[in-house]
Amino acid sequence: MKKVDQEEVARRRGIYFQSFGIYGGISGLFDYGPLGSRIKDRIVRIWKEMMLSEGNIAEFDGTAVTHQEVLKASGHYDRFFDYSVECTECGNRYRADDLIQKRGIEAIVDREWLQNKILELNMKCEKCGGKLGDVKIQKLMFQVEQGEGQEPLFLRPETAQGMFVNFKEYYRFFREKLPFAIITVGRGYRNEISPRRALYRLREFNMMECESFFDPQNEMWIHDPEENLKVTFLTNEGKEIHATPRDVYENGVVKSQPMAYFMGLAIRFYSRIGIDLNRFRFRQHKKEELSHYSSETWDAEALTDLGWIEITGIAHRGIFDLTNHIKASGKDLYAQRVVQRKEMLNKVREVDYDKIKADFPELSPKIIAAIKDGKSKLEAGGRTLDLADYIIEREEKVTVDRENFVPIVIEPAFGLDRIIYAILDHNLGLRDESGYVFLKIPYEISPYDAAVLPLMARDGLDQKANEIYEELLRQKFTVIYDDSGSIGKRYSRYDEVGIVYCITVDYETLKDDTVTIRHRDTREQLRIKVNEIPKYLGLNPWNGKKN
Ligand code: ATP
Ligand code: GLY
Repeated sequence: MKKVDQEEVARRRGIYFQSFGIYGGISGLFDYGPLGSRIKDRIVRIWKEMMLSEGNIAEFDGTAVTHQEVLKASGHYDRFFDYSVECTECGNRYRADDLIQKRGIEAIVDREWLQNKILELNMKCEKCGGKLGDVKIQKLMFQVEQGEGQEPLFLRPETAQGMFVNFKEYYRFFREKLPFAIITVGRGYRNEISPRRALYRLREFNMMECESFFDPQNEMWIHDPEENLKVTFLTNEGKEIHATPRDVYENGVVKSQPMAYFMGLAIRFYSRIGIDLNRFRFRQHKKEELSHYSSETWDAEALTDLGWIEITGIAHRGIFDLTNHIKASGKDLYAQRVVQRKEMLNKVREVDYDKIKADFPELSPKIIAAIKDGKSKLEAGGRTLDLADYIIEREEKVTVDRENFVPIVIEPAFGLDRIIYAILDHNLGLRDESGYVFLKIPYEISPYDAAVLPLMARDGLDQKANEIYEELLRQKFTVIYDDSGSIGKRYSRYDEVGIVYCITVDYETLKDDTVTIRHRDTREQLRIKVNEIPKYLGLNPWNGKKN
């Protein structure tokens, strides 16, 4: 398929466009329009359905505005920054490592190294050729002011932290059994130095994150990794392997079973929503690339007109987050494991009331009080009593069967906007020789189930089409009615936004209650009875299989 300008089509057809456009827009902020919102919503529903059908996954819907202590404990407050460099003449700003990387040099993310490299390569502003200034730190979190004298709040840079700090709620909800996972679909905010290319680098973006919790002694998800779907894995030593998630786990390329499991789940998800698996890979992070919380990360990447872009990161966060929140808050975020029942002998000391009463009936309260005060001797009745004689020491058996531990976390973090960017990149193009734009997305994520089109907006065709439209709405199909323009134009209008079925009402419809149903991909049309439409919308009429 010949490529087209995604941003142009997206803007023209109401898929996505820059926010606040009438005021000139703001870089890094984009809105989804009538069609984009539906595509996005359907992707989210598929993701949630896949996740929640695991059974041991539950949803969390937390706030974006975040307590600063949370982000201090998570390390974001101190360590979540990039290096920026500004043109001294036009003021254009760049991410220093991006600039160097563009020259094909692997950048080391260290201020001094970046500064020296820029000088050594005599790098200039890409926009005006001006001199570049000093490399500076730019913190990536947006700060939100509270009232005067109050601590500032922050917009969350990832949705993950809400799930960590509420770990105990979910631990109880899952009857104190691991593994389980929590998911959140929500917005993340990063004050990116140079937001670019539409949905690729945004300052406010949509994430679908999953935090899964394990006993470190049993790092196993409830299902086995996928054994049927093969994709490319690129290791941090530059080795490319074409394999299934099950293979890479079994041969030790991916060490963690749950990580391999979530890779399989991601592949199934991506193939279902239209990512081309021939332009897809998992790439392992090099050591110096790892986030501050991760010991191993694999990015799911899609090959697009921007090159390989990360659409999901699967990170092994170990005990990093929960340990830091335990330390910073002083609260119990532990799980408990059953350990082998241990019989222990505890020494127990008890007052021998019977002996006291028998020896000194009238002095007994005094003697008992002295023992309880921890005294060893007592003057009574003209003699010194050794209180040890009135204490019984015995051993008692106790059984211990639980101990505290900090669960480890494996996190698949899906970036929804980049996923949409990649889907459009892989599926939007010019249809063969005709030159019409055509979006070949799966039925499941297409914005409407069908478009209902009267051949002409007259002679009762419009009225009949409207009746069919109303009936389909009543049956909970998402349909669109359109009677403006030639039928050919309308077909291409809906091909362009990925609607699979067009139902056309023509003069024959009025005679025999039949319509034509046209398939986006083949452009073939079938004549079917009006009451058969619902059946066809759930099925692909040309191969009889479920879409
Ligand atoms: P990058 O290296 O490209 O900045 P990242 O490694 O910081 O990305 P993560 O922190 O792993 O990204 O975030 C998880 C997911 O969120 C990414 O896979 C990506 O899809 C998405 N994401 C991250 N930053 C942005 C952004 N600024 N705009 C849009 N999506 C983003
Ligand atoms: N929660 C993963 C990330 O934002 O990096």
